[in-house]
Amino acid sequence: MTSPILVTGGTGTLGRLVVPLLRDAGRPVRVLTRTAREPRDGVEFVTGDLVKDEGVDRAVEGAEIVVHLAGGRKGDDEAARNLVRAAKAAGVRHLVYISVIGAGAVPIGYFRQKFAAEEIVAGSGVPWTTLRAAQFHSFALNAVRGMAKSPVMPAPRDMQWQPVDARDVAERLAELALGAPAGLVPDLAGPKIYDMAELERDYLRASGRRRPLLPIRVPGKIGRAYRAGDNLTLDGADHGHRTWEDFLAAEFGPRPAQPA
Ligand SMILES: NC(=O)c1ccc[n+]([C@@H]2O[C@H](COP(=O)([O-])OP(=O)(O)OC[C@H]3O[C@@H](n4cnc5c(N)ncnc54)[C@H](OP(=O)(O)O)[C@@H]3O)[C@@H](O)[C@H]2O)c1
Repeated sequence: MTSPILVTGGTGTLGRLVVPLLRDAGRPVRVLTRTAREPRDGVEFVTGDLVKDEGVDRAVEGAEIVVHLAGGRKGDDEAARNLVRAAKAAGVRHLVYISVIGAGAVPIGYFRQKFAAEEIVAGSGVPWTTLRAAQFHSFALNAVRGMAKSPVMPAPRDMQWQPVDARDVAERLAELALGAPAGLVPDLAGPKIYDMAELERDYLRASGRRRPLLPIRVPGKIGRAYRAGDNLTLDGADHGHRTWEDFLAAEFGPRPAQPA
């Protein structure tokens, strides 16, 4: 029988899209999750916690391919360390990891931990593939929604994003998981670059809301990194097909016509 592909984070935004693609390719899938769930549609669930190192050996047992998508605000390095140890002991043949564009360059804890996790994967001795993706459209939407809670919407100046659709990332990851280990592959960014203010205006228009924008300058090292475009890949990236505008139209309905 074909061995299951273990997907950590298979219950998350990205993982929920990757799992059916692997199933469509005829592979049994096992998902590691912190919450017990019943098996369904060829997917079994193993309960465990990567950061606490609980249930990880059981999740990895018998899996030749591991797609590591679990992530949080904190602890991605610790989670990678625990997973790699178990994967090595279980003789995993291919470990696929999702990282973020700007890992190692943007001086924010999340990016630093993604970079540390990349290094743990690359140094594990388990054959590996790492894909760095830009922020997903759903993440960009949460960010602008959060800023629209204020009566005046802060619009960081000189900050650009290249958001990508999680479905495009899922398709790429499924392809990578079913292929040979490839090391650090070209980044996957969205099809267009946007100023933060453009993302905000597009959101306001699509959702029928009104807010004045207040341009702000992000101070310090973080501001400098964004102004230098450290969160972008300008050359050599692959690009998703679906735009931010497509995503907003699917979320909120077609864009209202502009007044003449
Ligand atoms: N969102 C973005 O814009 C973006 C961009 C680039 C890269 N990424 C990376 O893509 C991956 C997936 O992101 P996402 O937005 O799909 O995440 P998400 O929706 O927040 O889902 C997080 C997933 O991680 C699992 N998880 C979290 N902590 C865990 C732990 N301690 N042990 C085991 N599982 C744990 C959760 O499983 P349970 O809750 O079921 O336990 C859930 O399935 C992450 O590694 C993230 O860093 C995200």
